[in-house]
Amino acid sequence: MPGSPLTPNELFYVRNHLPVPLVKGAASPDASPGDLDLSETVNDDWKIQVQGLDPEKPPLELTVRDLKTRFEKVVVPATLQCSGNRRNELSREVKPVKGLEWDSGAISTAAWGGARLSDVLKAAGVASQEEALSRGRKHVCFDGGDIDGGSLNSKEASPSASASAPPPPPGYGASIPSRRALDRNADVILAYEMNGRPLPRDHGAPVRAVVPGVTAARSVKWLTRIALSESEHESHFQRKDYRTFAPGTDWDTVDWDASPSIVETNVTSAILEPADGATLADGPYLRAEGSDSLTVKGWAFSGGGRGIQRVDVSLDGGRSWTPAGTLERVPGDGDGFEDGPSWCWTLWTAEEVKVPEDFKGTGELEILARAVDSACNVQPERPGPIWNLRGERFSFLLLL
Ligand code: MTE
Repeated sequence: MPGSPLTPNELFYVRNHLPVPLVKGAASPDASPGDLDLSETVNDDWKIQVQGLDPEKPPLELTVRDLKTRFEKVVVPATLQCSGNRRNELSREVKPVKGLEWDSGAISTAAWGGARLSDVLKAAGVASQEEALSRGRKHVCFDGGDIDGGSLNSKEASPSASASAPPPPPGYGASIPSRRALDRNADVILAYEMNGRPLPRDHGAPVRAVVPGVTAARSVKWLTRIALSESEHESHFQRKDYRTFAPGTDWDTVDWDASPSIVETNVTSAILEPADGATLADGPYLRAEGSDSLTVKGWAFSGGGRGIQRVDVSLDGGRSWTPAGTLERVPGDGDGFEDGPSWCWTLWTAEEVKVPEDFKGTGELEILARAVDSACNVQPERPGPIWNLRGERFSFLLLL
């Protein structure tokens, strides 16, 4: 990330629940495997089915070529963050949680290029939010092409649109509220480009959903089907994961239906410099030899279009706080106030944060950062009250 608020494609975090599908690329079919660049695959023949208001009617079928040629292309800068980001700290600070052991790296930012979901749904006969809601279609379901043991882009219609359909395939699926899907200002897109390049295979080539401001679990990759539905997607990943519970709920007592699915993400931040465990006396962090102040850098992010209005840093256990003087936004992103929604992280720098006098350059210096978003939400000070069995949405003050 140094030097740019966008994450290069090859450094963008990757989170896959199932085997990554082998998508036919642009290379000719008789090319040897070595000729295929699996990091960037272009397959304009890839098909998506779009089921509108009537589940009995045949779905609209669109190829990626159709998406590129028949719909306006928009570029939306957006941060994706896995809900399990910083889960390790919850395990370390409170008690173990089950899940991938993420530190603070399950977050990245790209400029996504593609077609607006609302335009595509309009082409499938869904004129507006009002129309969808008046027909009881509160959700838009996405199916991915990563089916355990299944074939790609050829599976039967998803059951999400019809009660009489067969049980759901054991693939990846998720859903978002129709209100968001059909709101042009929510900037939900079907992305085929990432930072001006074809979408790489690991990130869902040839097309994925990108749902800004929402937990990245809903930004379904290798998209094969979109369907309006009365209820949320039936998949395990929508119904039995990505939900939070009170700290007292454990694996023996959890009732997944008792908690709503995570949609928008909460305010959080991380310190990038100094790195965890860095030696201050030797490092580039102290501004000059003999200096008693430190430069601290990091990122902060909040969901739902809320921007970051302030980040405070403390070197004395929270007795005093220095606001970061520089907040760098991603070009083209809003601020969560008068410039429109913020879908991206904000990079921050706090210069000349005074090192406490009792710190002699030996022992451990604890650095705290706390972000405040445009709705004045502040990161919680203690991790105990937000512990949850899957370690989702972790956001207590970052300690280094
Ligand atoms: N889509 C499909 N089809 N399969 C998946 O496993 N993982 C989800 C989401 N979309 C997933 C998916 C999760 S949990 C996250 S955090 C993001 O993709 C990660 O996107 P990335 O790998 O491009 O960073």
